[in-house]
This record gives sequence, structure tokens and C-alpha cells, in this order.
Amino acid sequence: MKKFYYIITYGCQMNVHESEKIAGILRELGYESCDGAERADIVVFNTCCIRENAENHAFGNIGMLKKLKSENRNMIIAVGGCLTQQMGKADNLKSKFPYVDIIFGTHNLHKLKELIILKEKQKKAVIQIEEDSGVVYEGDSPFRTSYPNAWVNITYGCNNFCSYCIVPYVRGRERSRKSEDIIAEVKTLIAEGYKEITLLGQNVNSYGNGTDDISFPKLLESIALLDGKFRLRFMTSHPKDFSEELAAVMAKYPKICRCLHLPVQSGSNAILKQMNRKYTVEDYLAKMEILHRYIPDCAVTTDIIVGFPGESDEDFAATLDLVKRVNFASAFTFVYSKREGTVAAKMPCQISEEVSKSRIMKLVELVNAQTRRHTESYVGKTIEILCEDFDAKKQMYMGRDEYGRMGYFKSDVNEIGNFVNIRVQKANGVSRLGERV
Ligand code: SAH
Ligand code: SF4
Ligand code: F3S
Repeated sequence: MKKFYYIITYGCQMNVHESEKIAGILRELGYESCDGAERADIVVFNTCCIRENAENHAFGNIGMLKKLKSENRNMIIAVGGCLTQQMGKADNLKSKFPYVDIIFGTHNLHKLKELIILKEKQKKAVIQIEEDSGVVYEGDSPFRTSYPNAWVNITYGCNNFCSYCIVPYVRGRERSRKSEDIIAEVKTLIAEGYKEITLLGQNVNSYGNGTDDISFPKLLESIALLDGKFRLRFMTSHPKDFSEELAAVMAKYPKICRCLHLPVQSGSNAILKQMNRKYTVEDYLAKMEILHRYIPDCAVTTDIIVGFPGESDEDFAATLDLVKRVNFASAFTFVYSKREGTVAAKMPCQISEEVSKSRIMKLVELVNAQTRRHTESYVGKTIEILCEDFDAKKQMYMGRDEYGRMGYFKSDVNEIGNFVNIRVQKANGVSRLGERV
């Protein structure tokens, strides 16, 4: 009899890719995918805890499975990811949701197969959270679902300890995969027909630190030199480690997309210091200058937090100023969320929800206006889109150009995985509508 799995993913691209690894493990065990928890024999929650709402979301959805589980006692419910790796959270989950069968963490994802086999043998729940061993596990066989893009991990963990951030506590210390393993994986993916490779790490610029392996710019260069038509992206970069060498490599190889995600977080030096970001606004602007000297049209995107403890009206005004100066192609904006165990959680002067809300509204308005202007500047131009998907609602194919902007177009044939030139006729928020040329 067929067995089905259903995976629910929260959080960042790292987690999206980890869900592909989970899918790979489940398929080895004979499970096939299905499109809803109702039909599933195993449901896996791959959780995130970066902000409180990510956590609440997961808790809410696990709670909703109680009824399904009572109707189907054989269904296995497994919960993994960053949330379970937080101190005390696994026990918390277990007491709140006694019907959960398996709880695993970020450091033992690759052992999920054994945990499932164990659960099939015993009635009792299997709860196993491991500490960071510092070892880089090779041997994943992800079942990829993001064609034509393929995610490739280059580093795991983070050493930066930005004062607001939980990631270093739940993902462990930064460790780099060997460049030969990364390059071999990319070669295979290109041979298999993937058209876009996105290198993943919390802080890709510090790739290779503490080892005698090559630096991040050299790694990018080695991959850009591989044969075949494909695009190369990477995320995320930390401003403190962004170097001129990286800008030069990005400029030299057309395969490397002309976009950079460089989270600035705040436009106030006082707040950046409290955030432990290790750069100033002036440093950030100087790096922008270097980047634009090499790649004048590079699209820069960013992340910004408002309402960090102690953020004054002047600090927030400085953030708005910076956003105006840099003219980001787009930005992810967040209200600061207190994370237990981080340094910022203990800081005085936590900002009220009301103030944070009014700040984020102002910021979003500014960012949206900038994004719209960027998008509109493309009308009449021809851009090359790598087609990623078909949008059933719009009845159009969609993809992104090398600057990371979305484009939609109509076609009678399946275009997914094709590079398509479109002439932009209309701008619509972050996306552009065009005609195939
Ligand atoms: N490693 C990446 C991404 C980390 S998480 C980096 O360093 O940029 C993605 C974004 O979530 C961060 O850039 C930050 O803007 C936001 N974030 C992290 N912790 C947060 C918190 N406690 N509250 C609100 N936003 C947070
Ligand atoms: Fe979090 Fe900072 Fe590490 Fe990014 S660099 S994951 S924001 S601690
Ligand atoms: Fe990613 Fe969320 Fe973990 S953003 S690293 S899944 S806490």
C-alpha cells in the first residue's frame, strides 16, 4: 500500500532546502508526497523561531492536527527545525501536544530515518535533540522541488551573535563545507539540467574561515568557471565581510547575478552598535560605493528591523534616511521580536507595539515607493527571465531576471526552465508584465 508524506515548512531558504532533504529521507523509506495533511501517513513540521509570530504559527498548526490524529492513530507527526532546537522547547512541545510522535532538532535532521524506524517499533514518542558537534554532514540526498533553481549549502551555523538573533543558538557555530564537495554537487546539478544555483549560508562571505580552504570570492569564481548556461546566486552576505574582491569577482563573471542581498538592519550607528553588527552606516555606504564602482547597475536588497530596544525617533529617522540614500531595489522589513536567551532580550527600553507599528508602516511605505520606481524603470526594456513557474491565477508564466525582479508573460508552451526574453509593457508593484520577444 502506498504511504504519503506532507511537509510544512516555515522560515528561510535554508529551511526550504532542509525540507527537500527531509523529503529525500522520506522517499527512501517509501513515502510519496501528497497535497495535504488529511491524506498523509506522516506529517513533518520544519519550524522556524526567528520571530515570535513564526513560532506561534507553527504551534497553531501543530495544534490543528489534533483532530486528524484522533481520527487516524497511525499517522506519524514529526516536528523538527529551529524551534525544537531552542532550550526547553522540545519538552514544551511535548507537554502541549502529547500526540506528537517525533521531535528532532537542526543537528540530527540527517538521522530522521532512524528516528522514524524507531517510532514504528515503539509506542512512546521519540524525542532526540542533539548539540552542535561541529561536524559537517555530507551524504544528504535532497528531493529537489525548486527546479530550475537548486539550493546548495556552503556554510552552516553562525558566529556573529547579533544581539537580537536566535540563529547562533539554534544552528550552532559556523562551519564550512569543503569546496571540493560543493563544486562536485554544483557540477552534478548543472549536468542534471538545473539553471540556477543559489549558495546558502547565514553569512556566506565568511566561507572557509578557520580552515585552509579557498575564500568565498574564490569559491564563487570556481563555480562561475564551470561550463553550461546557468545563473549563480548566493545569500546571505554580512556587510562587515563584504569585500572589494567579492565585488570584482561578481563583476567579472556574467553567470553571477547582478544583485546582492546585504542586510543593513538599521540606519543608526548607536543601534547598530547595540545590535552587535560590527559596522557603521559609513562603512555600509563605503561598501555600496565599492560595489557600484564595479557593478553600477547592481540591485541591492536588504533586511531592516524597527523597534529594536532603545530605538529613538532620531534613530528611526536615520533608518529612513539610509533607505532613501541607498535606494534599495527592495527590502524585507521586520518589527523587532524579543527572543529569550539573546542579549537584546535583557536590554532595557523595549519599544511599545504601538510605536513599532507606526514605524514599520512608515518604512514599508517608503520601501514600496522605491520598489515601484525601480520596477517602473523597466517599462519598454527587454529583460531575460529564467522561467520558474506557471501562475494559475494570472494564467501566465513567471520568473526572475538576473537582478532578482519578477516578470510575467504568456506562452502556449511549457517554459519552465527556459531563459526567455520579454519586453516589459507594464509595471505592477514588484513584478513586471511583458511580452515574449
Ligand atoms: N543570516 C542572515 C539572515 C538572518 S534571519 C543575516 O545575517 O542577514 C533574516 C532576518 O530576520 C535578519 O536579517 C533580520 O533582519 C531579521 N531578524 C532576525 N532576528 C530578528 C528578531 N529577533 N526580530 C525581528 N527580526 C529579526
Ligand atoms: Fe542572525 Fe546576525 Fe547570524 Fe544573521 S549574522 S544569522 S542576523 S546572528
Ligand atoms: Fe531560518 Fe528561521 Fe532557523 S529564519 S535559520 S528557519 S530560525
